[in-house]
Amino acid sequence: MKEKTIKKLTADVLILGGGLAGLYTALNINENKKIIIASKEPLGKSNSYLAQGGIAGELNTDEKVLAKHIEDTLIAGSGLFDKDAIKELVYDASENIKMLIDLGVPFDVDQDGKILLTREGGHSTRRILHAGGDATGKNIMETLIGLIRNKKNVTIIENYMLYDLIVKDEKCYGGQLISMDNEFCNVFADATILATGGIGAVYRDSTNAHGATGDGIAAAYRSGVELRGMEFVQFHPTVFYDTTGTIKGQKFLISEAVRGEGAYLLNINGERFMEKYDKRLELAPRDIVSQSIMKEMYDTWSEYVYIDARHLGKEFLSQRFPTIYQKCLESGYHMEKDLIPVAPVEHYGIGGVKIDLNGETSLANLYANGECCSSGVHGANRLASNSLLECIVFGKRIANEINKKSSSKINSWEIDIPFSMNKNSYHPIREEIRNTMSKYVFIVRDEEGLKLALTIINRHYKNLCKHPFTTVDYYRTLNIATVAKLITEAALARKESIGCHLRIN
Ligand code: SIN
Repeated sequence: MKEKTIKKLTADVLILGGGLAGLYTALNINENKKIIIASKEPLGKSNSYLAQGGIAGELNTDEKVLAKHIEDTLIAGSGLFDKDAIKELVYDASENIKMLIDLGVPFDVDQDGKILLTREGGHSTRRILHAGGDATGKNIMETLIGLIRNKKNVTIIENYMLYDLIVKDEKCYGGQLISMDNEFCNVFADATILATGGIGAVYRDSTNAHGATGDGIAAAYRSGVELRGMEFVQFHPTVFYDTTGTIKGQKFLISEAVRGEGAYLLNINGERFMEKYDKRLELAPRDIVSQSIMKEMYDTWSEYVYIDARHLGKEFLSQRFPTIYQKCLESGYHMEKDLIPVAPVEHYGIGGVKIDLNGETSLANLYANGECCSSGVHGANRLASNSLLECIVFGKRIANEINKKSSSKINSWEIDIPFSMNKNSYHPIREEIRNTMSKYVFIVRDEEGLKLALTIINRHYKNLCKHPFTTVDYYRTLNIATVAKLITEAALARKESIGCHLRIN
Protein backbone atom coordinates (compact mmCIF):
# COMPACT_ATOMS: atom_id res chain seq x y z
CA MET A 1 0.00 0.00 0.00
CA LYS A 2 1.20 3.47 -0.90
CA GLU A 3 2.77 5.38 2.00
CA LYS A 4 0.83 8.42 3.11
CA THR A 5 2.12 11.28 5.16
CA ILE A 6 0.34 12.05 8.36
CA LYS A 7 0.71 15.59 9.55
CA LYS A 8 1.27 15.91 13.29
CA LEU A 9 0.43 19.10 15.16
CA THR A 10 0.34 20.08 18.81
CA ALA A 11 -1.61 22.75 20.65
CA ASP A 12 -2.76 23.60 24.15
CA VAL A 13 -6.34 23.47 22.98
CA LEU A 14 -7.94 21.74 20.00
CA ILE A 15 -11.39 23.03 19.07
CA LEU A 16 -13.32 20.84 16.66
CA GLY A 17 -15.86 23.01 14.87
CA GLY A 18 -16.03 26.52 13.47
CA GLY A 19 -19.54 27.57 14.51
CA LEU A 20 -20.48 29.85 17.40
CA ALA A 21 -19.76 27.17 20.04
CA GLY A 22 -16.17 26.82 18.83
CA LEU A 23 -15.29 30.42 17.99
CA TYR A 24 -16.79 32.05 21.08
CA THR A 25 -14.96 29.56 23.29
CA ALA A 26 -11.70 30.31 21.47
CA LEU A 27 -12.15 34.06 21.94
CA ASN A 28 -12.49 33.57 25.70
CA ILE A 29 -9.37 31.43 26.12
CA ASN A 30 -6.27 33.27 27.31
CA GLU A 31 -3.95 34.43 24.56
CA ASN A 32 -0.98 32.58 26.05
CA LYS A 33 -2.60 29.30 24.99
CA LYS A 34 -1.97 27.95 21.53
CA ILE A 35 -5.29 27.00 19.94
CA ILE A 36 -6.02 24.98 16.82
CA ILE A 37 -9.53 25.24 15.38
CA ALA A 38 -10.35 22.47 12.92
CA SER A 39 -13.42 23.01 10.82
CA LYS A 40 -14.98 20.57 8.40
CA GLU A 41 -16.17 23.38 6.15
CA PRO A 42 -14.73 26.83 5.54
CA LEU A 43 -15.59 29.09 8.49
CA GLY A 44 -19.01 30.58 7.82
CA LYS A 45 -20.61 27.37 6.60
CA SER A 46 -22.24 26.32 9.83
CA ASN A 47 -25.66 26.04 11.41
CA SER A 48 -24.79 29.05 13.59
CA TYR A 49 -24.39 31.14 10.44
CA LEU A 50 -27.87 30.12 9.29
CA ALA A 51 -29.63 31.07 12.55
CA GLN A 52 -32.43 33.47 11.73
CA GLY A 53 -34.63 34.17 14.74
CA GLY A 54 -32.03 35.31 17.20
CA ILE A 55 -30.46 34.79 20.57
CA ALA A 56 -32.65 34.60 23.67
CA GLY A 57 -31.46 36.30 26.83
CA GLU A 58 -32.38 38.95 29.36
CA LEU A 59 -30.09 41.97 29.63
CA ASN A 60 -32.18 43.05 32.60
CA THR A 61 -30.86 41.00 35.53
CA ASP A 62 -33.82 41.63 37.83
CA GLU A 63 -34.60 38.31 39.60
CA LYS A 64 -38.25 38.36 38.53
CA VAL A 65 -37.33 38.89 34.89
CA LEU A 66 -34.79 36.05 34.97
CA ALA A 67 -37.28 33.78 36.73
CA LYS A 68 -39.65 34.10 33.74
CA HIS A 69 -36.95 33.00 31.29
CA ILE A 70 -36.15 30.06 33.57
CA GLU A 71 -39.83 29.17 33.78
CA ASP A 72 -40.37 29.31 30.00
CA THR A 73 -37.32 27.08 29.46
CA LEU A 74 -38.56 24.60 32.08
CA ILE A 75 -42.04 24.46 30.55
CA ALA A 76 -40.69 23.87 27.04
CA GLY A 77 -38.28 21.19 28.34
CA SER A 78 -41.20 19.10 29.68
CA GLY A 79 -39.50 17.91 32.86
CA LEU A 80 -36.38 16.25 31.46
CA PHE A 81 -34.01 19.15 31.99
CA ASP A 82 -31.17 19.93 34.35
CA LYS A 83 -32.49 22.85 36.38
CA ASP A 84 -29.04 23.97 37.54
CA ALA A 85 -27.86 24.16 33.94
CA ILE A 86 -30.92 26.24 33.02
CA LYS A 87 -30.20 28.65 35.88
CA GLU A 88 -26.62 29.12 34.68
CA LEU A 89 -27.88 29.62 31.12
CA VAL A 90 -30.28 32.36 32.14
CA TYR A 91 -28.09 34.05 34.80
CA ASP A 92 -25.00 34.16 32.55
CA ALA A 93 -26.92 35.47 29.52
CA SER A 94 -26.47 39.20 30.00
CA GLU A 95 -22.68 39.03 30.65
CA ASN A 96 -22.13 36.99 27.49
CA ILE A 97 -24.53 38.88 25.25
CA LYS A 98 -22.83 42.10 26.40
CA MET A 99 -19.53 40.55 25.34
CA LEU A 100 -20.98 39.89 21.87
CA ILE A 101 -22.05 43.55 21.73
CA ASP A 102 -18.57 44.67 22.86
CA LEU A 103 -17.01 42.44 20.21
CA GLY A 104 -19.00 44.39 17.63
CA VAL A 105 -22.05 42.24 16.82
CA PRO A 106 -24.53 44.70 15.26
CA PHE A 107 -27.77 43.72 17.01
CA ASP A 108 -30.82 45.58 15.68
CA VAL A 109 -31.68 48.75 17.61
CA ASP A 110 -34.46 51.35 17.41
CA GLN A 111 -34.00 55.05 16.55
CA ASP A 112 -32.82 55.73 20.12
CA GLY A 113 -30.22 52.97 20.03
CA LYS A 114 -32.27 50.65 22.24
CA ILE A 115 -31.93 46.94 21.42
CA LEU A 116 -34.98 45.57 19.59
CA LEU A 117 -36.42 42.33 20.93
CA THR A 118 -38.69 39.76 19.35
CA ARG A 119 -40.70 36.75 20.53
CA GLU A 120 -40.84 33.13 19.46
CA GLY A 121 -42.78 30.03 20.47
CA GLY A 122 -42.77 29.23 24.19
CA HIS A 123 -41.48 32.67 25.25
CA SER A 124 -43.88 34.58 27.47
CA THR A 125 -42.30 37.89 26.54
CA ARG A 126 -40.06 39.59 23.97
CA ARG A 127 -36.50 38.65 24.94
CA ILE A 128 -34.83 37.62 21.67
CA LEU A 129 -32.15 39.85 20.20
CA HIS A 130 -31.72 39.79 16.44
CA ALA A 131 -29.38 41.26 13.86
CA GLY A 132 -29.91 42.18 10.22
CA GLY A 133 -33.62 41.45 10.80
CA ASP A 134 -33.55 37.71 10.21
CA ALA A 135 -29.79 37.29 9.67
CA THR A 136 -28.72 37.00 13.30
CA GLY A 137 -26.36 34.05 12.84
CA LYS A 138 -24.69 35.62 9.81
CA ASN A 139 -24.03 38.87 11.68
CA ILE A 140 -22.71 37.16 14.80
CA MET A 141 -20.52 34.77 12.84
CA GLU A 142 -19.09 37.36 10.47
CA THR A 143 -18.05 39.47 13.47
CA LEU A 144 -16.46 36.52 15.27
CA ILE A 145 -14.77 35.10 12.16
CA GLY A 146 -13.17 38.52 11.51
CA LEU A 147 -11.81 38.57 15.07
CA ILE A 148 -10.61 34.98 15.19
CA ARG A 149 -8.69 35.24 11.93
CA ASN A 150 -6.60 38.01 13.52
CA LYS A 151 -5.72 36.12 16.68
CA LYS A 152 -2.01 35.31 16.81
CA ASN A 153 -2.52 32.33 19.14
CA VAL A 154 -5.11 30.68 16.88
CA THR A 155 -4.43 28.46 13.87
CA ILE A 156 -7.42 27.57 11.73
CA ILE A 157 -7.48 24.37 9.71
CA GLU A 158 -10.43 24.41 7.33
CA ASN A 159 -11.89 21.44 5.42
CA TYR A 160 -10.72 18.83 7.96
CA MET A 161 -13.21 16.61 9.75
CA LEU A 162 -12.76 14.74 13.00
CA TYR A 163 -12.94 10.99 12.53
CA ASP A 164 -11.68 9.75 15.88
CA LEU A 165 -10.52 11.09 19.20
CA ILE A 166 -7.01 10.37 20.45
CA VAL A 167 -7.53 8.52 23.71
CA LYS A 168 -4.91 6.96 25.99
CA ASP A 169 -5.17 5.84 29.61
CA GLU A 170 -8.78 7.08 29.74
CA LYS A 171 -7.80 10.62 28.79
CA CYS A 172 -8.38 12.56 25.60
CA TYR A 173 -5.24 13.90 23.91
CA GLY A 174 -6.72 15.43 20.75
CA GLY A 175 -8.26 14.30 17.50
CA GLN A 176 -7.51 12.42 14.31
CA LEU A 177 -8.57 14.47 11.32
CA ILE A 178 -9.07 13.74 7.66
CA SER A 179 -9.30 16.39 4.95
CA MET A 180 -11.86 16.51 2.18
CA ASP A 181 -9.01 15.25 -0.07
CA ASN A 182 -8.32 12.35 2.28
CA GLU A 183 -5.16 13.85 3.81
CA PHE A 184 -4.50 13.00 7.46
CA CYS A 185 -3.60 15.18 10.40
CA ASN A 186 -3.32 14.18 14.05
CA VAL A 187 -3.65 17.07 16.47
CA PHE A 188 -2.40 16.48 20.02
CA ALA A 189 -3.69 18.82 22.71
CA ASP A 190 -4.03 19.18 26.48
CA ALA A 191 -7.70 20.03 26.09
CA THR A 192 -10.05 19.06 23.27
CA ILE A 193 -13.43 20.69 22.69
CA LEU A 194 -16.11 19.06 20.57
CA ALA A 195 -18.13 21.79 18.87
CA THR A 196 -19.00 19.82 15.76
CA GLY A 197 -22.63 20.90 15.48
CA GLY A 198 -25.78 19.14 14.40
CA ILE A 199 -27.14 15.94 12.94
CA GLY A 200 -29.39 17.18 10.11
CA ALA A 201 -27.75 14.95 7.49
CA VAL A 202 -29.25 11.92 9.25
CA TYR A 203 -32.64 12.96 7.82
CA ARG A 204 -33.75 13.41 4.21
CA ASP A 205 -34.90 16.99 4.89
CA SER A 206 -33.24 19.39 7.28
CA THR A 207 -32.64 23.09 7.77
CA ASN A 208 -29.01 22.28 8.63
CA ALA A 209 -25.83 23.02 6.74
CA HIS A 210 -24.80 19.99 4.63
CA GLY A 211 -21.89 19.02 6.85
CA ALA A 212 -24.12 18.21 9.84
CA THR A 213 -23.31 14.49 10.05
CA GLY A 214 -22.98 14.30 13.83
CA ASP A 215 -19.21 13.71 13.68
CA GLY A 216 -18.49 14.72 17.28
CA ILE A 217 -21.28 12.58 18.69
CA ALA A 218 -20.24 9.56 16.61
CA ALA A 219 -16.53 9.91 17.48
CA ALA A 220 -17.38 10.33 21.18
CA TYR A 221 -19.55 7.21 21.03
CA ARG A 222 -16.70 5.21 19.48
CA SER A 223 -14.53 6.27 22.43
CA GLY A 224 -17.14 5.29 25.00
CA VAL A 225 -17.99 8.86 26.07
CA GLU A 226 -21.36 9.24 27.78
CA LEU A 227 -24.24 10.51 25.63
CA ARG A 228 -27.72 11.62 26.63
CA GLY A 229 -31.16 12.29 25.16
CA MET A 230 -30.50 11.12 21.62
CA GLU A 231 -34.22 10.43 21.00
CA PHE A 232 -34.99 14.15 21.23
CA VAL A 233 -34.81 15.59 17.74
CA GLN A 234 -36.48 18.92 17.20
CA PHE A 235 -38.49 19.39 14.01
CA HIS A 236 -39.01 23.02 13.07
CA PRO A 237 -42.71 23.56 12.35
CA THR A 238 -42.48 26.13 9.57
CA VAL A 239 -39.98 25.24 6.89
CA PHE A 240 -40.68 26.38 3.33
CA TYR A 241 -42.36 23.55 1.41
CA ASP A 242 -41.40 23.56 -2.24
CA THR A 243 -44.57 22.46 -4.04
CA THR A 244 -42.62 22.18 -7.32
CA GLY A 245 -40.19 19.64 -5.82
CA THR A 246 -37.27 21.34 -7.60
CA ILE A 247 -35.34 22.77 -4.63
CA LYS A 248 -32.84 20.11 -3.61
CA GLY A 249 -30.83 19.84 -0.41
CA GLN A 250 -30.94 22.06 2.64
CA LYS A 251 -34.40 23.40 3.44
CA PHE A 252 -35.22 27.03 4.01
CA LEU A 253 -36.63 28.16 7.33
CA ILE A 254 -39.50 30.59 7.81
CA SER A 255 -38.37 31.78 11.24
CA GLU A 256 -40.57 31.37 14.25
CA ALA A 257 -40.08 35.10 14.70
CA VAL A 258 -42.51 35.58 11.75
CA ARG A 259 -45.17 34.02 13.99
CA GLY A 260 -43.69 35.99 16.87
CA GLU A 261 -44.54 39.16 14.95
CA GLY A 262 -48.11 37.97 14.36
CA ALA A 263 -48.32 35.53 11.43
CA TYR A 264 -50.92 32.71 11.60
CA LEU A 265 -51.02 29.10 10.55
CA LEU A 266 -53.81 27.93 8.24
CA ASN A 267 -54.58 24.45 6.95
CA ILE A 268 -55.02 23.92 3.21
CA ASN A 269 -58.72 24.70 3.59
CA GLY A 270 -57.77 28.17 4.85
CA GLU A 271 -58.78 27.45 8.47
CA ARG A 272 -56.73 28.73 11.40
CA PHE A 273 -56.26 25.63 13.55
CA MET A 274 -53.90 26.19 16.48
CA GLU A 275 -56.77 27.06 18.87
CA LYS A 276 -57.80 23.38 18.67
CA TYR A 277 -54.45 22.34 20.16
CA ASP A 278 -53.05 24.96 22.54
CA LYS A 279 -54.19 28.21 24.07
CA ARG A 280 -50.85 29.82 23.20
CA LEU A 281 -51.87 29.34 19.55
CA GLU A 282 -49.05 29.82 17.01
CA LEU A 283 -46.64 30.67 19.83
CA ALA A 284 -46.93 27.38 21.68
CA PRO A 285 -43.56 25.60 22.11
CA ARG A 286 -42.18 24.14 18.93
CA ASP A 287 -42.96 20.46 19.66
CA ILE A 288 -46.65 21.27 20.09
CA VAL A 289 -46.83 23.36 16.91
CA SER A 290 -45.04 20.68 14.83
CA GLN A 291 -47.28 17.92 16.18
CA SER A 292 -50.42 20.02 15.56
CA ILE A 293 -49.33 20.71 11.97
CA MET A 294 -48.77 16.97 11.40
CA LYS A 295 -52.31 16.28 12.62
CA GLU A 296 -53.76 18.94 10.31
CA MET A 297 -51.74 17.61 7.38
CA TYR A 298 -53.07 14.13 8.10
CA ASP A 299 -56.68 15.29 8.50
CA THR A 300 -56.62 17.37 5.31
CA TRP A 301 -54.61 14.82 3.30
CA SER A 302 -51.93 17.37 2.55
CA GLU A 303 -48.12 17.57 2.70
CA TYR A 304 -48.12 21.11 4.03
CA VAL A 305 -50.05 23.88 5.78
CA TYR A 306 -49.74 27.62 5.22
CA ILE A 307 -48.18 30.47 7.09
CA ASP A 308 -50.20 33.64 6.60
CA ALA A 309 -48.30 36.89 7.12
CA ARG A 310 -50.28 38.96 4.60
CA HIS A 311 -51.76 41.28 7.23
CA LEU A 312 -48.25 42.37 8.32
CA GLY A 313 -47.76 44.24 5.04
CA LYS A 314 -44.93 44.47 2.53
CA GLU A 315 -42.99 47.27 4.21
CA PHE A 316 -42.80 45.57 7.59
CA LEU A 317 -42.11 42.09 6.19
CA SER A 318 -39.39 43.13 3.76
CA GLN A 319 -37.61 45.22 6.41
CA ARG A 320 -37.99 42.94 9.40
CA PHE A 321 -37.37 39.70 7.46
CA PRO A 322 -35.28 40.68 4.44
CA THR A 323 -33.75 37.22 3.90
CA ILE A 324 -37.02 35.32 4.21
CA TYR A 325 -38.89 37.88 2.10
CA GLN A 326 -36.31 37.57 -0.68
CA LYS A 327 -36.19 33.76 -0.54
CA CYS A 328 -39.98 33.54 -0.82
CA LEU A 329 -39.87 35.95 -3.75
CA GLU A 330 -37.29 33.77 -5.52
CA SER A 331 -39.80 30.91 -5.31
CA GLY A 332 -42.60 33.11 -6.63
CA TYR A 333 -44.30 34.02 -3.32
CA HIS A 334 -45.06 37.59 -2.18
CA MET A 335 -45.42 37.37 1.58
CA GLU A 336 -47.83 40.34 1.66
CA LYS A 337 -50.14 38.69 -0.91
CA ASP A 338 -49.58 34.93 -0.83
CA LEU A 339 -49.98 32.13 1.65
CA ILE A 340 -46.61 30.41 2.09
CA PRO A 341 -46.61 26.58 2.16
CA VAL A 342 -44.70 25.18 5.14
CA ALA A 343 -44.11 21.78 6.78
CA PRO A 344 -41.99 20.51 9.69
CA VAL A 345 -38.50 19.17 8.98
CA GLU A 346 -35.49 18.23 11.12
CA HIS A 347 -33.90 21.29 12.68
CA TYR A 348 -31.96 20.55 15.86
CA GLY A 349 -30.52 17.53 17.65
CA ILE A 350 -31.25 18.09 21.33
CA GLY A 351 -29.32 15.07 22.60
CA GLY A 352 -25.60 14.58 22.40
CA VAL A 353 -22.41 14.32 24.44
CA LYS A 354 -23.31 14.77 28.09
CA ILE A 355 -21.55 17.68 29.79
CA ASP A 356 -21.52 19.13 33.28
CA LEU A 357 -21.84 22.81 34.19
CA ASN A 358 -18.23 23.43 33.11
CA GLY A 359 -18.66 21.71 29.75
CA GLU A 360 -16.68 18.63 30.83
CA THR A 361 -17.62 15.26 29.35
CA SER A 362 -17.21 11.83 30.96
CA LEU A 363 -13.74 11.56 29.33
CA ALA A 364 -10.92 13.50 31.01
CA ASN A 365 -9.64 16.52 29.02
CA LEU A 366 -12.61 16.38 26.64
CA TYR A 367 -15.21 19.17 26.60
CA ALA A 368 -18.25 19.66 24.39
CA ASN A 369 -20.34 22.69 23.48
CA GLY A 370 -23.22 23.65 21.20
CA GLU A 371 -25.53 21.35 19.31
CA CYS A 372 -23.32 18.26 19.69
CA CYS A 373 -23.57 18.44 23.49
CA SER A 374 -26.29 17.75 25.99
CA SER A 375 -25.92 20.31 28.76
CA GLY A 376 -29.42 19.61 30.07
CA VAL A 377 -30.79 23.08 29.26
CA HIS A 378 -33.08 21.94 26.45
CA GLY A 379 -34.79 19.05 28.23
CA ALA A 380 -37.13 17.16 25.92
CA ASN A 381 -37.82 20.20 23.74
CA ARG A 382 -35.54 23.18 23.18
CA LEU A 383 -37.01 26.63 23.74
CA ALA A 384 -36.53 28.69 20.57
CA SER A 385 -33.32 30.73 20.36
CA ASN A 386 -31.88 29.26 23.57
CA SER A 387 -29.27 27.39 21.51
CA LEU A 388 -27.10 30.34 20.48
CA LEU A 389 -27.27 31.38 24.12
CA GLU A 390 -26.11 27.92 25.22
CA CYS A 391 -23.10 28.20 22.85
CA ILE A 392 -21.89 31.43 24.47
CA VAL A 393 -22.71 30.65 28.10
CA PHE A 394 -21.09 27.21 28.06
CA GLY A 395 -18.30 28.43 25.75
CA LYS A 396 -17.34 30.97 28.39
CA ARG A 397 -17.53 28.37 31.17
CA ILE A 398 -15.30 25.95 29.23
CA ALA A 399 -12.82 28.76 28.54
CA ASN A 400 -12.77 29.65 32.25
CA GLU A 401 -11.94 26.04 33.14
CA ILE A 402 -9.17 25.82 30.56
CA ASN A 403 -7.73 29.19 31.60
CA LYS A 404 -7.31 27.87 35.17
CA LYS A 405 -5.00 25.08 33.96
CA SER A 406 -1.33 25.69 33.39
CA SER A 407 0.09 24.64 30.03
CA SER A 408 2.17 21.46 30.01
CA LYS A 409 4.54 20.06 27.45
CA ILE A 410 2.17 18.38 25.05
CA ASN A 411 2.85 14.73 24.34
CA SER A 412 2.53 13.40 20.85
CA TRP A 413 3.17 10.01 19.32
CA GLU A 414 2.78 8.08 16.09
CA ILE A 415 -0.64 6.62 15.40
CA ASP A 416 -1.02 3.94 12.77
CA ILE A 417 -3.73 4.58 10.25
CA PRO A 418 -4.79 1.69 8.05
CA PHE A 419 -4.59 3.39 4.67
CA SER A 420 -7.25 1.38 3.05
CA MET A 421 -8.89 3.60 0.51
CA ASN A 422 -11.68 2.47 -1.74
CA LYS A 423 -13.58 4.13 -4.49
CA ASN A 424 -17.02 2.87 -3.46
CA SER A 425 -19.71 5.48 -3.25
CA TYR A 426 -21.57 5.27 0.02
CA HIS A 427 -24.25 7.63 -1.23
CA PRO A 428 -26.94 4.92 -1.63
CA ILE A 429 -26.41 3.84 2.00
CA ARG A 430 -26.79 7.42 3.23
CA GLU A 431 -29.93 7.80 1.12
CA GLU A 432 -31.49 4.66 2.54
CA ILE A 433 -30.72 5.68 6.12
CA ARG A 434 -32.11 9.21 5.55
CA ASN A 435 -35.31 7.91 3.98
CA THR A 436 -35.72 5.40 6.81
CA MET A 437 -35.24 8.08 9.49
CA SER A 438 -37.65 10.45 7.74
CA LYS A 439 -40.31 7.76 7.50
CA TYR A 440 -40.07 5.92 10.81
CA VAL A 441 -38.14 8.12 13.25
CA PHE A 442 -39.87 11.40 12.48
CA ILE A 443 -42.38 13.39 14.57
CA VAL A 444 -44.89 10.57 15.14
CA ARG A 445 -43.23 7.30 16.19
CA ASP A 446 -44.45 3.78 16.92
CA GLU A 447 -42.77 0.58 18.01
CA GLU A 448 -43.24 -1.30 14.76
CA GLY A 449 -41.77 1.51 12.66
CA LEU A 450 -38.86 2.07 15.04
CA LYS A 451 -37.99 -1.64 15.05
CA LEU A 452 -38.09 -1.77 11.27
CA ALA A 453 -35.89 1.34 11.08
CA LEU A 454 -33.39 -0.16 13.50
CA THR A 455 -33.13 -3.36 11.44
CA ILE A 456 -32.34 -1.37 8.29
CA ILE A 457 -29.90 0.98 10.02
CA ASN A 458 -28.13 -1.80 11.93
CA ARG A 459 -27.57 -3.77 8.73
CA HIS A 460 -25.63 -0.82 7.30
CA TYR A 461 -23.95 0.08 10.58
CA LYS A 462 -22.62 -3.45 11.13
CA ASN A 463 -21.41 -3.76 7.54
CA LEU A 464 -19.63 -0.42 7.76
CA CYS A 465 -17.93 -1.44 11.00
CA LYS A 466 -16.89 -4.77 9.48
CA HIS A 467 -15.27 -3.15 6.42
CA PRO A 468 -13.55 0.05 7.58
CA PHE A 469 -11.92 2.41 5.09
CA THR A 470 -10.10 5.62 5.90
CA THR A 471 -11.90 7.99 3.56
CA VAL A 472 -14.11 11.02 4.17
CA ASP A 473 -16.98 9.34 2.35
CA TYR A 474 -16.72 6.30 4.61
CA TYR A 475 -16.64 8.31 7.85
CA ARG A 476 -19.49 10.58 6.77
CA THR A 477 -21.57 7.47 6.19
CA LEU A 478 -20.43 5.68 9.34
CA ASN A 479 -21.25 8.78 11.39
CA ILE A 480 -24.72 9.10 9.87
CA ALA A 481 -25.35 5.38 10.49
CA THR A 482 -24.06 5.71 14.08
CA VAL A 483 -26.20 8.72 14.95
CA ALA A 484 -29.28 7.21 13.24
CA LYS A 485 -28.78 4.03 15.28
CA LEU A 486 -28.39 5.98 18.53
CA ILE A 487 -31.52 8.08 17.90
CA THR A 488 -33.60 5.05 16.95
CA GLU A 489 -32.43 2.91 19.88
CA ALA A 490 -33.17 5.73 22.33
CA ALA A 491 -36.57 6.35 20.69
CA LEU A 492 -37.45 2.67 21.06
CA ALA A 493 -36.36 2.63 24.69
CA ARG A 494 -38.46 5.67 25.62
CA LYS A 495 -41.97 4.33 25.50
CA GLU A 496 -43.81 7.42 26.72
CA SER A 497 -44.44 10.61 24.75
CA ILE A 498 -42.59 13.61 26.07
CA GLY A 499 -41.50 16.89 24.47
CA CYS A 500 -40.59 16.35 20.85
CA HIS A 501 -40.66 12.55 21.23
CA LEU A 502 -44.22 11.51 20.31
CA ARG A 503 -44.98 7.78 20.63
CA ILE A 504 -48.40 6.57 19.45
CA ASN A 505 -47.65 3.02 20.58
C1 SIN B 1 -36.13 30.28 14.06
O1 SIN B 1 -35.71 31.38 13.70
O2 SIN B 1 -37.30 29.93 13.97
C2 SIN B 1 -35.14 29.29 14.61
C3 SIN B 1 -34.71 29.68 15.94
C4 SIN B 1 -34.16 28.51 16.68
O3 SIN B 1 -34.07 27.42 16.13
O4 SIN B 1 -33.86 28.66 17.86
